[in-house]
Amino acid sequence: MDALRKVVLEDEQCLANVRPGKRVVFGVGNLDAAIMFVGEAPGAEEEKLGEPFVGPAGQLLTKMISAMGLSRAEVYIGNIMNWRPQMPVDADGEQYGNRPPNAEEMNYCLPYLQAQIEIVSPKVVVALGSTAAHGLLGADAFKALGDVRGRWHEFAKYPMMVSYHPSYILRNQSNRSKRMIWEDLLQVMERCDLPITEKQQGYFLSV
Ligand code: URA
Repeated sequence: MDALRKVVLEDEQCLANVRPGKRVVFGVGNLDAAIMFVGEAPGAEEEKLGEPFVGPAGQLLTKMISAMGLSRAEVYIGNIMNWRPQMPVDADGEQYGNRPPNAEEMNYCLPYLQAQIEIVSPKVVVALGSTAAHGLLGADAFKALGDVRGRWHEFAKYPMMVSYHPSYILRNQSNRSKRMIWEDLLQVMERCDLPITEKQQGYFLSV
């Protein structure tokens, strides 16, 4: 993994896509992880710190992982993209918005993600949100995320659960949406033979 990380961090195309002072972002976590979470692309915090899922969506992902009885250090976290998809910058030289990566960008970075998945060889891959799911299932695999989420799929022979991106929960704070993502994670826990308490079974059931 160290050798792969070095290749990605020194990749000319990746470097050409990050602005001065920002960083290429490679996956982090346990190389023996049973669960590998896959997101979309670095955002502002991630490209600043060079680590996936450290901004607001990342803090929620960290909470979700701990609700599963795990820590970030016990799972592996990666992204489809190794750089923040670029948009115009403001007068201060900072990019404020985010955009989803295009097909060409995703195709460029996908082999790097696949190599990480093969090294970690997790029991389960969890695709977070529609960009990750499209990247891993194929551009034409589905129209609405609801058609594929909460179900088992395969990526490169690895069982894969598709769920919502934590940023969706940040925008939709209802117990219903929290319960949907939590039910997907319960399926992941079951598949990995993780203990599930009654309390965990019942999270977000109240309306
Ligand atoms: N959203 C993602 O999909 N990935 C990150 O690393 C951060 C936010």
